Amino acid sequence: MYEELEQIREKCLSCQKCPLSKSRHKVVFSGGVPNSKMMLIGEAPGYWEDQKGIPFVGKAGQLLDKIFECVGLSRERDVYICNTIKCRPPDNRNPLPEEKQACEEYLKAQIDILKPRIILVCGNIALNTMIPTERGITRARGKWFDGPYGSKMMPIFHPSYLLRNDSREKGSPKWLMWQDIKAIKEEYDKLNDVIVS
Ligand code: URA
Repeated sequence: MYEELEQIREKCLSCQKCPLSKSRHKVVFSGGVPNSKMMLIGEAPGYWEDQKGIPFVGKAGQLLDKIFECVGLSRERDVYICNTIKCRPPDNRNPLPEEKQACEEYLKAQIDILKPRIILVCGNIALNTMIPTERGITRARGKWFDGPYGSKMMPIFHPSYLLRNDSREKGSPKWLMWQDIKAIKEEYDKLNDVIVS
């Protein structure tokens, strides 16, 4: 149905399919690099994302950038970033099933066009959307799942959860995220390895 990301973006920017279109300031379609081999799917725009029209630019987003930087990844070079739904729910409440349903064609189209090799499923809302058989992020995080178009998907903690859990001790959410991001970098590097025979 869509042939280019730009087509989906244009449709999305004027979308009126659910009531969030009335309360939003800006549609938050995507950030990062459109031709990346890696895609991160978050939950929904928050206050700053709604103001700027860019995903993950508030405090959680700044932490996400730092996590990427720790292993030499960056949103400018390595990852396409989007959310399960493209408009901010009032007071940052969880998206309602009907809002997710109204928005799912956009996320699906983003995946269909990008065909990422690695998908990072960030937090419980994204987990419920991408891997509904999994019971919760604490159990699912850090494992590789088979994703669309032969991709590998890894659920990871949402950075806002890490902001609420400051410990870096072994086994803490931040420590677990460190393990996950190292595994993700290793997998990402494999995509770029040139086989010399
Ligand atoms: N949290 C998300 O899940 N997505 C954003 O874009 C911002 C915060």
